Amino acid sequence: MTATLTGRKPLIGTPIDRVDGRLKVTGQAQYTADMPVEHVAYAAIVTSTIAHGTIRSIDTSAAAEIHGVLKIFTHENSPRFTQPEADFMKALVPAQTFMPLQGPDVVHYGQQIAIVVAETFEAARAAAARVRVTYDLSPALLTLDDPKAARTKPEEFFGSALQTERGNVERHLASAAATVDELYTTPTQFHNPMEPHATLAQWNGDKLTVHEPSQWVKGLQNYVATVFGIPVEDVHIISPFVGGGFGNKGFSFAHTIFAAMAARELKRPVKLVLTRTQLFEQTGNRPRTEQHVRIGADKDGRLVAIDHASTIGTSVAGWFVEPSGRISPMLYSCPNVRISHEAVWLNTPAPGPMRAPGETPGTFALESALDELATKLGIDPIELRVKNDASQDEEEKLPFSSRHLVECLQLGAKRFGWEDRPRNPRERREHNEFIGFGVASATFPGLRSPASARVRRDKESFLIEVATHDIGTGMYSIIAQVAADALGVGVERIEVRIGDSALPAAPVAGGSMSTASVMPAVQAACLKLRESGGNEAEASSAPGDEQGRYSFHSFGAQFVEIRVDETLGRVRVARALGVFDCGKIINPKTARSQFLGGMVFGIGMALMEDGVFDKRSGRVVTDNLADYRIPVNADIGEIDAITVEHPDFLLNPIGARGVGEIGTTGVAAAIANAVYNATGKRIRTLPITPDKLL
Ligand code: MOS
Repeated sequence: MTATLTGRKPLIGTPIDRVDGRLKVTGQAQYTADMPVEHVAYAAIVTSTIAHGTIRSIDTSAAAEIHGVLKIFTHENSPRFTQPEADFMKALVPAQTFMPLQGPDVVHYGQQIAIVVAETFEAARAAAARVRVTYDLSPALLTLDDPKAARTKPEEFFGSALQTERGNVERHLASAAATVDELYTTPTQFHNPMEPHATLAQWNGDKLTVHEPSQWVKGLQNYVATVFGIPVEDVHIISPFVGGGFGNKGFSFAHTIFAAMAARELKRPVKLVLTRTQLFEQTGNRPRTEQHVRIGADKDGRLVAIDHASTIGTSVAGWFVEPSGRISPMLYSCPNVRISHEAVWLNTPAPGPMRAPGETPGTFALESALDELATKLGIDPIELRVKNDASQDEEEKLPFSSRHLVECLQLGAKRFGWEDRPRNPRERREHNEFIGFGVASATFPGLRSPASARVRRDKESFLIEVATHDIGTGMYSIIAQVAADALGVGVERIEVRIGDSALPAAPVAGGSMSTASVMPAVQAACLKLRESGGNEAEASSAPGDEQGRYSFHSFGAQFVEIRVDETLGRVRVARALGVFDCGKIINPKTARSQFLGGMVFGIGMALMEDGVFDKRSGRVVTDNLADYRIPVNADIGEIDAITVEHPDFLLNPIGARGVGEIGTTGVAAAIANAVYNATGKRIRTLPITPDKLL
């Protein structure tokens, strides 16, 4: 339980302003790309212009003539590196299996094929454009239906089974009173944080310092040390501020290695900043999915069978497979459930985790199918979900630590005015727009990992140190809140240092697990210091045997009201409301920002985002923020997020689960369901663009 001084209002649960807010709005927060360093050299990446083949020749002579060019690394003169195997338990997770610059092979468009280093940024970029390459082309595998592409059935995603069945799905689908049997597809998506990936690498003898925006400083430290074959403690990753991540700064990328390689060879600091286009090509994406969902119910609307078969486009350069079916065995009660995932290996950039990997595309498919089932049965979509609420995790056969999906649905219905919805398609219009309401469930696991924290007292102030991350989420602020409560002091007496691999260990800022993992360690360290009365204390915290006794998940409900202009095919989201069950909320202000950001992410997915590959060259056609469309302010109408607060003390002593990813889940389905409610058109292929509605 939270320790507080008698009579003092706890800071946990209070919407304090971001403690790092002033640094950010005044420009004092130091981001990697802007960091000034003496005698720095600038690197630029040259990328392939074919999707598959080998480099026949690479001519750097014209590039080398540019004034200020120091060195050009190609596969012919680069030091040799081996890509280590991804091992999450060892906190060593390269995003790719393929290591560029080691030979003439090209396996996707936009692959790194040379690194130019120069005295100035401009010289490096100009020289990179003058590297001349010829190729021997091989046929490229670019589409999910290419019969020549290898297909595999991956067994698991971070320990969760990807091919499972309980009961007898076929028999119960055949005898169901109502069934839905449809294909739902989601395109490749790109994360595009405002801050591009960047590395500033500096050697001091055999020791390497890397400034890089990272969601996992410990993971990057292990990766760089392993690739260079040097002791882990000789690599120092510094990442105090991260301008957005969404998953694509979590795993480790080869550009960090190339910047460090250049710094070592040139014996001076090297700064490498990826271009916006290179973010699309080299830093992961959410792979496209084709989800064949078959669900059946009895005449009362009770689910009798779910079959969720996903085909995922992954990359020959990588290993990541979107686990889109993972929600189906646990979200509702259903005796007969099968999920399967098939990976198709293509010559496209390696994918990776993107905000709620699995749950985001998975809820689009399952929650759309549920809406179709509700229509067929003539049952209200909320009633159908309530009817099928699960009293336990039927896959793990464990009770949920805390599950309040029904409360989210019912509270949301009341707040949103669900009663007042149009009952049938094309029932309500205003001027030239049809109005539609849609609802969908949201869900994300409640993960927790081991973490440590240190507190130091200096006269009246306290310094909290953890190797965790603030990727815009509010981590600085909630650490200060938890520490202040545990120490019984005001938040102004707390200083927080994070984003540094030399600090006590913390997990990746991924899987929405930082809050649930780090806060118990911060609290424990502060309580220890308070008890000892000393000047320094360190504490570790880790999940225990509750992990085998309960199933931990967050839940939510997404509501939208949309307007469709049928002559233009335009969909506007007039209102959106998310209701979330994420345990204790430490800072309602920063948590709300996470929820709203997640929901906007979902609106982009539903209506705009569409990663397109050229079918001949494999180039990412939408490789910029004009062609890869994401919502701007004008695209978002009224939007709100509220929570039902049921602290989850089975997960940790703070009672908090994470809030970073769940906001995205369910949104695309709610919008697709609302489009159906408005127009009678069921769109199963995202994004819902005008051409699909005309
Ligand atoms: Mo999240 S995509 O697990 O950073």
